[in-house]
Amino acid sequence: MISKHPVSSDPSRREFLRTGTVAAAAAALPLRGMGFHNSVDDTLKVGLIGCGGRGTGAAFNALRADSATKLVAMGDAFADRVESSLSGLQGNAGIAAQVDVPPERRFSGFDAYKQVIEASDVVLLATPPHFRPLHVEAAVEAGRHLFVEKPVAVDGPGIRRMMEACRKAADKGLSLVSGLCYRYQFAKQETVKRIHDGAIGDLVSLQCSYNTGGLWHRGRKPAWSEMEYQVRNWLYFNWLSGDHITEQHIHSLDKVLWAMGDQTPTRVTSSGGRISRIDDKYGDIYDHFNTVYQWKNGVKAFSSCRQIISASSDVSDFAHGTKGTAQIQSHRIEGENAWRWRGDGPDDMYQNEHDVLFRSIREGSAINNGDYMCKSTMMAIAARMSAYTGKSLSWDEAMASQEDLTPTAYAWGDAPTVRIPRPGVTPFV
Ligand SMILES: NC(=O)c1ccc[n+]([C@@H]2O[C@H](COP(=O)([O-])OP(=O)(O)OC[C@H]3O[C@@H](n4cnc5c(N)ncnc54)[C@H](O)[C@@H]3O)[C@@H](O)[C@H]2O)c1
Repeated sequence: MISKHPVSSDPSRREFLRTGTVAAAAAALPLRGMGFHNSVDDTLKVGLIGCGGRGTGAAFNALRADSATKLVAMGDAFADRVESSLSGLQGNAGIAAQVDVPPERRFSGFDAYKQVIEASDVVLLATPPHFRPLHVEAAVEAGRHLFVEKPVAVDGPGIRRMMEACRKAADKGLSLVSGLCYRYQFAKQETVKRIHDGAIGDLVSLQCSYNTGGLWHRGRKPAWSEMEYQVRNWLYFNWLSGDHITEQHIHSLDKVLWAMGDQTPTRVTSSGGRISRIDDKYGDIYDHFNTVYQWKNGVKAFSSCRQIISASSDVSDFAHGTKGTAQIQSHRIEGENAWRWRGDGPDDMYQNEHDVLFRSIREGSAINNGDYMCKSTMMAIAARMSAYTGKSLSWDEAMASQEDLTPTAYAWGDAPTVRIPRPGVTPFV
């Protein structure tokens, strides 16, 4: 029998995690920096899967969000990543007392996720996105609350699994907060609210860019198998990252989706290629994509993303309407209802999302970001498939894609063969 809520062997704690005590106590919680505790054992046990840069940051944010949390388990494909993340967290005076991960709760390997889930009430997922559907499914099956980093899949089968897992999380009353962090920045919430309230009139078109330089590469060691090499350098392998349009540009696409009221486009047409990433070390991903998204009501979004060393950077998004233009990234509106965000006080989107997650758990009022995180991930995957194949795709065609990027085995030996996609030659599957 699957529990609706995190399981505890202690009846008073189990009751607390259910609702009663929680609802009463939560009424007094401030929005941020909750600092909440009471006489029952109300500690929420947090587990981290994927102990890299973002996972370590997410663990910090989770511990900061609620003083009655403890980080109790950590898992990563590689033991050295667990240790470096752990020592970073232990060295942070603000949260060190909440870090309780003895050697027997440090796990490594492809199955590390199972033990972390077993040991935790709330699970933070920050591995490369390929593994997200598997990990969300397992955590939801076990009745755990979730923080889920973006993106949430790399292919059509993965997104369909994720949609199903999110539905199950909702049925079970579990909280599931997405790492699409811009949605949790107060300044952007106010900007998008104004778009929805008509400040720029009817939307005509949108434009978004995520043009940056290059990213890290972790090299190759002779002792590493091909699988270890690829997982350590996961950004550069489509089966692991979904290419940079999925891994990075998803933030821009999600803002477009948000402005569009979470309505998905009906057609996606993209082109892209690799003009600077010609070395083998860059695996099979592209370095640029340009995409047109089209909605049923005629609105179009023009999207550009690029990762090319020494080329100009630009991260911006514009929503053009009949009465003005909103600059979502920089929180301003020009035109009839000119406005700019002048909020003061902290607005750390990475902290805000964890504050909301833990407050929802304490209040027993589940939050579920599954819908938009799946849609924006799919906007990226659809564009990548369009660019790789050279085919313009309807949304329904893209959603039905059978291309499954899962390797034949999760084992430290061979890895998927690297084949660079060629538009007009690579088939749409
Ligand atoms: N929201 C944001 O602004 C933001 C920022 C950075 C990264 N991210 C996302 O967070 C995720 C992680 O990115 P990162 O920058 O921390 O990368 P990273 O490489 O620093 O960390 C990923 C970690 O996952 C580990 N890992 C790989 N496969 C695993 C598996 N099967 N099981 C357990 N661990 C595994 C890796 O060894 C690595 O330590 C990505 O999805 C990325 O897109 C989000």
